[in-house]
Amino acid sequence: MAYVVLDNCIACKYTDCVEVCPVDCFYEGENMLVIHPDECIDCGVCEPECPAAAIKPDTAKNLGVFPKLNADMAKIWPNLAIKRKALP
Ligand code: SF4
Ligand code: F3S
Repeated sequence: MAYVVLDNCIACKYTDCVEVCPVDCFYEGENMLVIHPDECIDCGVCEPECPAAAIKPDTAKNLGVFPKLNADMAKIWPNLAIKRKALP
Protein backbone atom coordinates (compact mmCIF):
# COMPACT_ATOMS: atom_id res chain seq x y z
CA MET A 1 0.00 0.00 0.00
CA ALA A 2 1.01 3.60 -0.62
CA TYR A 3 -0.47 7.06 -0.51
CA VAL A 4 -1.61 8.80 -3.70
CA VAL A 5 -1.74 12.46 -4.75
CA LEU A 6 -5.09 13.35 -6.33
CA ASP A 7 -6.45 16.10 -8.58
CA ASN A 8 -6.88 18.58 -5.70
CA CYS A 9 -3.13 19.14 -5.91
CA ILE A 10 -3.36 20.36 -9.51
CA ALA A 11 -2.56 24.07 -9.72
CA CYS A 12 -2.00 24.24 -5.93
CA LYS A 13 1.26 22.48 -5.07
CA TYR A 14 1.34 23.69 -1.48
CA THR A 15 4.28 21.29 -0.92
CA ASP A 16 3.57 21.01 2.82
CA CYS A 17 3.57 17.28 2.12
CA VAL A 18 7.19 17.05 0.98
CA GLU A 19 8.43 18.65 4.15
CA VAL A 20 7.01 15.93 6.39
CA CYS A 21 7.73 12.85 4.27
CA PRO A 22 10.44 10.82 6.03
CA VAL A 23 11.57 9.06 2.84
CA ASP A 24 11.34 11.96 0.34
CA CYS A 25 9.20 10.04 -2.12
CA PHE A 26 7.43 13.03 -3.75
CA TYR A 27 8.10 13.86 -7.41
CA GLU A 28 7.25 17.14 -9.08
CA GLY A 29 5.44 17.87 -12.32
CA GLU A 30 4.54 21.27 -13.67
CA ASN A 31 1.08 21.38 -12.05
CA MET A 32 1.11 18.75 -9.32
CA LEU A 33 3.16 16.36 -7.24
CA VAL A 34 2.98 12.57 -7.17
CA ILE A 35 4.10 9.90 -4.71
CA HIS A 36 6.33 7.01 -5.77
CA PRO A 37 4.34 3.95 -4.68
CA ASP A 38 7.43 1.76 -4.21
CA GLU A 39 9.18 4.31 -2.02
CA CYS A 40 6.22 5.37 0.14
CA ILE A 41 6.39 3.59 3.50
CA ASP A 42 2.73 4.22 4.17
CA CYS A 43 3.33 6.29 7.29
CA GLY A 44 0.30 8.53 6.65
CA VAL A 45 2.02 11.69 7.91
CA CYS A 46 1.47 13.65 4.69
CA GLU A 47 -2.28 13.13 4.43
CA PRO A 48 -3.39 15.64 7.12
CA GLU A 49 -0.67 18.13 6.11
CA CYS A 50 -2.15 18.89 2.70
CA PRO A 51 -4.33 22.05 2.85
CA ALA A 52 -6.14 20.87 -0.30
CA ALA A 53 -6.87 17.36 1.04
CA ALA A 54 -5.19 15.99 -2.08
CA ILE A 55 -3.58 12.93 -0.50
CA LYS A 56 -5.38 9.65 0.14
CA PRO A 57 -4.33 6.05 0.79
CA ASP A 58 -4.50 3.88 -2.32
CA THR A 59 -7.05 1.71 -0.53
CA ALA A 60 -9.59 4.57 -0.73
CA LYS A 61 -12.45 4.35 -3.23
CA ASN A 62 -12.84 6.26 -6.50
CA LEU A 63 -9.23 7.28 -7.02
CA GLY A 64 -9.68 7.00 -10.78
CA VAL A 65 -6.55 7.34 -12.87
CA PHE A 66 -4.46 8.73 -10.03
CA PRO A 67 -2.79 5.58 -8.62
CA LYS A 68 -1.46 4.77 -12.08
CA LEU A 69 -0.60 8.40 -12.80
CA ASN A 70 1.42 8.64 -9.55
CA ALA A 71 3.29 5.42 -10.35
CA ASP A 72 4.02 6.39 -13.95
CA MET A 73 5.00 10.02 -13.37
CA ALA A 74 7.17 9.25 -10.32
CA LYS A 75 9.50 7.40 -12.70
CA ILE A 76 9.86 10.44 -14.94
CA TRP A 77 9.51 13.60 -12.84
CA PRO A 78 12.30 14.95 -10.58
CA ASN A 79 12.30 14.33 -6.85
CA LEU A 80 11.18 17.18 -4.61
CA ALA A 81 12.25 17.13 -0.95
CA ILE A 82 11.96 20.76 0.14
CA LYS A 83 8.98 23.04 0.54
CA ARG A 84 8.38 25.63 -2.17
CA LYS A 85 6.07 28.57 -2.57
CA ALA A 86 2.62 27.38 -3.65
CA LEU A 87 1.33 28.16 -7.14
CA PRO A 88 -0.54 31.49 -7.41
FE1 SF4 B 1 5.80 10.02 2.52
FE2 SF4 B 1 4.51 8.82 4.51
FE3 SF4 B 1 3.16 10.30 2.77
FE4 SF4 B 1 4.18 7.96 2.01
S1 SF4 B 1 2.55 8.26 3.52
S2 SF4 B 1 4.28 9.88 0.88
S3 SF4 B 1 6.06 7.89 3.21
S4 SF4 B 1 4.72 11.03 4.22
FE1 F3S C 1 -0.14 19.04 -3.48
FE2 F3S C 1 -1.13 19.05 -1.08
FE3 F3S C 1 1.34 18.42 -1.39
S1 F3S C 1 -1.60 20.50 -2.69
S2 F3S C 1 1.95 19.59 -3.15
S3 F3S C 1 -0.37 17.29 -2.18
S4 F3S C 1 0.52 19.64 0.24
